[in-house]
Amino acid sequence: MAFPKNFMWGGATSAAQIEGAYLVDGKKESTADLMTIAQEKVGRKIGYYPNEFYPSHTAIDFYHHYQEDIKLFSEMGFKAYRFSMAWSRIYPNGDDQTVNKAGLEFYDKIVDLCLKYKIEPVVTIQHFDTPMGLKKYHFWLGRQTVTHYLRFAQTLFHHFKGRVKYWLTFNEINNMSTMPWNAGGLSLNASEEDKMIAAYHQLLASAKAVILAHEIDEHNLVGMMYNGHFSYPASCRPSDVWGNQQFQAKMLFYADVQVRGYYPRYKLRELERLNIKLPVVDGDLEALKAGTVDFISLSYYLTHVCGEKTKGIVKGLNGLETGYKNKYLVKSAWGWPIDPLGLRIGLNQLYDRYQLPLMIVENGLGAVDKIEDGLINDDYRIDYMQKHLQALEAAIEYDGVEVWGYMSWGPIDLISASTGEMKKRYGFIYVDVDDQGQGTYKRFKKKSFSWYKKVIATNGASLRDNFREKGY
Ligand code: BG6
Repeated sequence: MAFPKNFMWGGATSAAQIEGAYLVDGKKESTADLMTIAQEKVGRKIGYYPNEFYPSHTAIDFYHHYQEDIKLFSEMGFKAYRFSMAWSRIYPNGDDQTVNKAGLEFYDKIVDLCLKYKIEPVVTIQHFDTPMGLKKYHFWLGRQTVTHYLRFAQTLFHHFKGRVKYWLTFNEINNMSTMPWNAGGLSLNASEEDKMIAAYHQLLASAKAVILAHEIDEHNLVGMMYNGHFSYPASCRPSDVWGNQQFQAKMLFYADVQVRGYYPRYKLRELERLNIKLPVVDGDLEALKAGTVDFISLSYYLTHVCGEKTKGIVKGLNGLETGYKNKYLVKSAWGWPIDPLGLRIGLNQLYDRYQLPLMIVENGLGAVDKIEDGLINDDYRIDYMQKHLQALEAAIEYDGVEVWGYMSWGPIDLISASTGEMKKRYGFIYVDVDDQGQGTYKRFKKKSFSWYKKVIATNGASLRDNFREKGY
């Protein structure tokens, strides 16, 4: 049996992409609430535009539908549910000295409902939604933000002690290099220096949060969350191989720090060359060392091709421009190359490098779903996930990679982080709402709902059909 007995099957969401109710019960704005829906060829605008639609303000209104939604997760047999707790619900301005009780009460209800259904909560402390009240510190550029994040994290560790055991400190921390507004409130064209300073503050905050989590409850397990930007060299020309390695180093240094507890020498040399000085103060290096993570969680959607032409990291969420395309892979409707074997390769790379348990906390296909005769036959999604899960099974069974769980992204449709669209759907559960927030908000099961339910019920055995023929 490839999948371990207690394998954590489930799904994952983030607060700003599902909850809506963005100013309800004391919540205030976060960076996510200032992002418009993307227009064709124009990304999401950031700021206050009176005539624009802001998807996070309503999202799928999970705030008022959570009971129904978690019940549906339970019906699918979820063993784990990864979600984030919005900082701006609990400390509305980010730097408040007192907690907003209504915010904590909302998450009490979520956690308790999960536990009632025997679903293990996996909580992301910060997922692309820094409170706007921290703008005065320039968000993650300011060291004060570290202090306020730690107050928030400490509150969560105390309040949910005994109920939540798995914590992720920052969603896709390496996205500071690719999506700086989402990751930390930095402008989209922030300088490398600013990104590296904000990243330093998050790495430090993460390490200190790990220390706190362990002090408050020795049973806590804290993970990093890595955006799985795996890539292939454009050719076997040494300069292409080197270009690819350079790209990987820009991503992996975040994991190096969180797993090993110090900045790797290649990164220190690079910062020195760029004349970037990290704002290190006494005690920081010791904290980085003491606050290493217990496991690595990751998202995986696609792979890149990099080489000599790859000039650092150029714009866009996941749709990074690296200067190369992969002619061997087909793409999703949003241009993301589909690469199941890339998941097996990536899992092996991470496990070889760090030898820490892994947890997949995002994977799935964003696609347009059509309702025909009242049904959504999302065979394309089933096909995508089936192949990725077969690759995962091979990584566990044949390669011996230790993987604790698989949480698909957006088990219920939600708004896209890169575009703000609703029509980019990932769910097993359809939500009747469109790109302008119009609809009944009713939930319907797609065909993939019963497919995933069977995968979970058989602990992955149902994936074995045609396993060998498909060559994974
Ligand atoms: C990950 C993020 O990068 O990708 C999620 O953690 C995001 O927040 C997911 O939703 C899928 O990306 P998108 O742009 O399709 O929503």
